Amino acid sequence: MADVLERQKRRPAAPPRDPRETLEPLLDELMRTLRFERAVVLLYDDERAALAGSFGTGVSDAIARELLIPLALVDDPIVASLRGGVPQLIRDATLDERISAPVRETLTKAKLGPIVAAPLRSTTERPAGQDGKRGAAPGWEHRGEWAGVVLLSRASGVTQSDVDALVPFARQAEEAITLQRDVDLLRDTSEAFAIEKEWLWWMVNGVGDAVLVTDSNNDMVLQNRRAELLFRASDEDSAGKRRAVWMNNFLFTAALSTWNLERTVATTGREVTLVDPIEGDELIYEVITTPATNYRVGMRGTVSVLKNVTDIRHIGEELARGRERLQSAEEEIRIERDRLDLVLRNVPNPIIVVDNDNHILSMNPAADRLFKPASATSRASHTALANDARFTSFLAGLRLDPALSKRGEIALTDPRTDDRLEMEVSATEIRDSRGAVIAIVSVMQDIGRLRELERRRLEQVLFDSEKLAATGRLAASIAHEINNPLEAVQNALYLLQKEFGGDAAKRPYLDIAARETQRMSRILRQMLGFYRQQEAMGATDLNALVEEAGGLVAKRLRERSVQIANQLDPGLPRIRASADQLKQVLLNLLLNAADSMPRGGTITVATQAGAGAETELFGRDAVQIQVRDTGDGIPDELLGQIFEPFFSTKPGKGTGLGLWVSQGIVQSHGGTMRVRSRVGRGTTFMITLPVQGPPSDARAA
Ligand SMILES: Nc1ncnc2c1ncn2[C@@H]1O[C@H](COP(=O)(O)OP(=O)(O)OP(=O)(O)O)[C@@H](O)[C@H]1O
Ligand SMILES: [Mg+2]
Repeated sequence: MADVLERQKRRPAAPPRDPRETLEPLLDELMRTLRFERAVVLLYDDERAALAGSFGTGVSDAIARELLIPLALVDDPIVASLRGGVPQLIRDATLDERISAPVRETLTKAKLGPIVAAPLRSTTERPAGQDGKRGAAPGWEHRGEWAGVVLLSRASGVTQSDVDALVPFARQAEEAITLQRDVDLLRDTSEAFAIEKEWLWWMVNGVGDAVLVTDSNNDMVLQNRRAELLFRASDEDSAGKRRAVWMNNFLFTAALSTWNLERTVATTGREVTLVDPIEGDELIYEVITTPATNYRVGMRGTVSVLKNVTDIRHIGEELARGRERLQSAEEEIRIERDRLDLVLRNVPNPIIVVDNDNHILSMNPAADRLFKPASATSRASHTALANDARFTSFLAGLRLDPALSKRGEIALTDPRTDDRLEMEVSATEIRDSRGAVIAIVSVMQDIGRLRELERRRLEQVLFDSEKLAATGRLAASIAHEINNPLEAVQNALYLLQKEFGGDAAKRPYLDIAARETQRMSRILRQMLGFYRQQEAMGATDLNALVEEAGGLVAKRLRERSVQIANQLDPGLPRIRASADQLKQVLLNLLLNAADSMPRGGTITVATQAGAGAETELFGRDAVQIQVRDTGDGIPDELLGQIFEPFFSTKPGKGTGLGLWVSQGIVQSHGGTMRVRSRVGRGTTFMITLPVQGPPSDARAA
């Protein structure tokens, strides 16, 4: 835009103006003093390369303008006066052969016979040959912007003294013309200013921002159209708009007066909130102020550019809110990640994430231990490398498995201790939205240690059952040894009772002896039952055993209004067990249940197949038998004692050996026996037995 202005400034000067105004007073003066009667002024016409008549004194302008003398006519004395810069004497122009016929005709019409032709020229001298004009006579240069000739005539004739008197005039005219030129120049300049002002108007109104100039009192001096929209209202405008404009003026003036406007450089970053006079909305403006001085009048002021940032600010606010939301989401993610990290860090299981090309993406410290040894010994790193290689080929094998989650076992070596690790690996594929595998997460579990624990436990069970068996054998052999003499005693007592049956005095002693010996033989029977030879072990159908035991006691239970309800799993596998011993266990439990229900009730016997849930039987095939009653239940404080030998709450009636023996039998089968009871509600005994029989057998198998 500056370019346009520059060009505008440098535009060619305006065409020469009619110098009549300047020349006329001069001519009048001259004609009066030198007593000339008529005059015609011819001016150099660049276009036509000729002297053209311009105006006359004592000659009508119309006639004057008929005159046209081409500069090419070098012999013409009028042309010569211009070329030579010296006034020429023409005694009678109407007859002068050097002058062309049409010109002479016009001169005759104008009554211009005797003539002095005086040159008129502006001042600037230009070296010849640099700027030759079209049509200009060779050797003659149009100098400056003004050139012409004045023809002065008197009817009484002209003389050489007239020529001499005109030399100073020519100079005077020249000066006058120079003066005239200055005036024209000024006029040109103000014209240029007007043009420049026009461009400036377009410039300040062309910008999208409101621009305004305020004086030192913060009063508005100048504003562009956008500023006018905000700050100017006329009486024709609505009251609302006038109020808004008033408000804006007030707000802006107030803002200006709070700002330090003295800073010599433009200041940005200031804001003012104004009202849209048309919509009534709030508008936020960023204001850039620049101090300005009008040197012409010595006034100080401020140029303010008001940039409408309402939308930007709203977008900015929206962005800030978005960023805040993003930040809090990021924070949440970070917390979540930290939490996950913490979990992974503290999980004892090694966890490895690999990409589809088996490159490790991440590992937890437990996995680091296996694949990135902390100690840098070559041995440890060698072991870690070997682990890595084994794991990679293991994963490659797993990939062939179509399942999403895969399991397998792998043997690794602990780089720190050189211990052999039996790892069970669960590998899960992570897929992207299109179903492509992007990662595989492998979680390892050292099952070697689990297996070791299990082995130790089995050893303990075996040891316990050996001990139990030894105790049992001892008890059984004692029982066996006592049984024969006891039978003899019972026989003798039987005979004595027969003999002294009528003697009321002796009879009670015999009865006591008979009852106690019966009791002794019951104890012995229990003990003997405990030790039935292990060779009796065989494939046993527990369901059949349950039915059989129930049948044996059915009559007795019916008399006491106790019912048996069996819930038998038809899919129950046969188990390796001693049928006789388990039958004894079932009988003990059924009788105990019946004893706990003096007013009758229901006994439920249920069997069920399935992997043992008990830690002792973990992972092995097992069966479960439950015996539930609806009896009195067992108080909590007694629960711990019921499996002890000779513990009984049935004085004179129970031996207290039933549960002790039963538990011994179950344990010798590698099983468990537990009780759950609630006073007033009933008791449940749960027996779990391994399908494979006692561990010694399982191992043998
Ligand atoms: N189903 C049951 N309901 C309530 N109490 C029971 C039940 N089973 C056992 N008991 C309690 O446990 C005690 C011990 O039972 P255990 O079978 O060992 O001996 P007993 O039944 O008293 O005598 P024995 O069985 O030699 O006749 C019982 O005296 C009884 O107090
Ligand atoms: Mg009992």
